[in-house]
Amino acid sequence: MSLKGAAPGWSTRKKILVFSIIGIIIVALGVGLGVGLGVGLNHNNGGGEGNGSGTGGNGGTGTGGNGTSSGNTTVKWQPEVGIKWQIELLYALNDTSVDAHVYDIDLFDNPKSTIANLQGMGRKVICYFSAGTYENWRSDANEFLSSDKGNNLADWPGEKWLNTSSANVRKIMQQRLDMAVTKGCDGVDPDNIDAYDNSNGLDLTQDDAINYVNWLASESHSRGLSLGLKNGGDIIHSVLGNMQWSVNEQCAQYSECDTYAAFTAANKPVFHIEYPKGDTDDDDNVTAKQMSSACNAASAGNFSTVIKNMNLNNWVEYCP
Ligand SMILES: *[C@@H]1O[C@H](CO)[C@@H](O)[C@H](O)[C@H]1NC(C)=O
Ligand SMILES: *[C@@H]1O[C@H](CO)[C@@H](O)[C@H](O)[C@H]1NC(C)=O
Ligand SMILES: *[C@@H]1O[C@H](CO)[C@@H](O)[C@H](O)[C@H]1NC(C)=O
Ligand SMILES: *[C@@H]1O[C@H](CO)[C@@H](O)[C@H](O)[C@H]1NC(C)=O
Ligand SMILES: *[C@@H]1O[C@H](CO)[C@@H](O)[C@H](O)[C@H]1NC(C)=O
Ligand SMILES: *[C@@H]1O[C@H](CO)[C@@H](O)[C@H](O)[C@H]1NC(C)=O
Ligand SMILES: *[C@@H]1O[C@H](CO)[C@@H](O)[C@H](O)[C@H]1NC(C)=O
Repeated sequence: MSLKGAAPGWSTRKKILVFSIIGIIIVALGVGLGVGLGVGLNHNNGGGEGNGSGTGGNGGTGTGGNGTSSGNTTVKWQPEVGIKWQIELLYALNDTSVDAHVYDIDLFDNPKSTIANLQGMGRKVICYFSAGTYENWRSDANEFLSSDKGNNLADWPGEKWLNTSSANVRKIMQQRLDMAVTKGCDGVDPDNIDAYDNSNGLDLTQDDAINYVNWLASESHSRGLSLGLKNGGDIIHSVLGNMQWSVNEQCAQYSECDTYAAFTAANKPVFHIEYPKGDTDDDDNVTAKQMSSACNAASAGNFSTVIKNMNLNNWVEYCP
């Protein structure tokens, strides 16, 4: 049932053009003023790294190279721009034949042995969980308080926005990060951090998301886990310094890959997913036209692009 993995893709993609334009301007500022600077200053200087705060200029501070320092710990794993990846969230992973260096799989559904097996094949493993929504089928679902829960997600039964400022929600997320450590994950993919872009019923704002994502970074890094920003184009420059990658859905479809190129400009990969078949979840190859729409977006030339079904099953195609 982690069909939900793909859910936010649609619900958060409903941005209007204005947001894209603002995003492009912010990126332009960020790249011009901050990232260029930050990339030049890249050294692992052991702790105390800042995160870009608020305004667009300082996104790239202290990032890149090996072992980025962040929070009080050195990040163990900083993948390179352009690294090949696979994502499969629909069921426990049962196909390791895809020749990708990074696998993004469900934290709850996969046992430690699957992760160890992938690592034994020289791969890195990112463990997916929803950090911003309640999912009623998860093993820890009964630990959320009713006061933690906001509106239902329109298209996804059993899922509700969470108050990411709640101490109880944060305690549960710490337990999930502990689970990621126990299972041996190299990093995590915390989804649904962009409640501000949706009718969340909890008055959650962009500032709340910035605070939460930076908190997740600190909690992840102190456990030796890397992490990325899932979608969330509007907050990139306030969290980029603490992120090791971006996971983006449909920036080609929505002409917003320029926004996410702030990551590749800071030497961090963009794990980019396109769904050119819409909600037709078959395992047929895409047409040449669909391939072109997914693979030839402006600014996405160095992205790690996968063409997937929206249900995020095993099926995958790569750009030529
Ligand atoms: C920066 O990140 C830290 C955690 O790493 C967080 O506590 C702090 O609130 C963040 N600052 C801003 C301005 O977002
Ligand atoms: C980066 O890390 C890799 C593997 O951990 C190591 O082989 C390489 O020398 C490191 N590079 C730098 C510049 O530290
Ligand atoms: C993997 O598991 C899914 C769900 O049970 C199943 O539909 C699929 O055929 C399996 N694939 C392989 C390669 O075993
Ligand atoms: C969310 O949690 C914070 C911290 O407990 C609290 O101050 C705030 O009122 C909560 N928001 C809602 C809408 O309940
Ligand atoms: C740094 O992280 C380690 C590992 O989680 C933790 O034990 C330690 O208390 C942290 N130190 C500070 C100053 O936050
Ligand atoms: C689908 O595409 C892959 C390469 O992406 C190719 O190896 C395979 O033969 C194609 N399958 C069909 C049925 O055309
Ligand atoms: C990709 O990276 C290379 C090397 O850093 C750079 O020259 C090129 O402009 C980048 N391409 C895009 C589309 O950003």
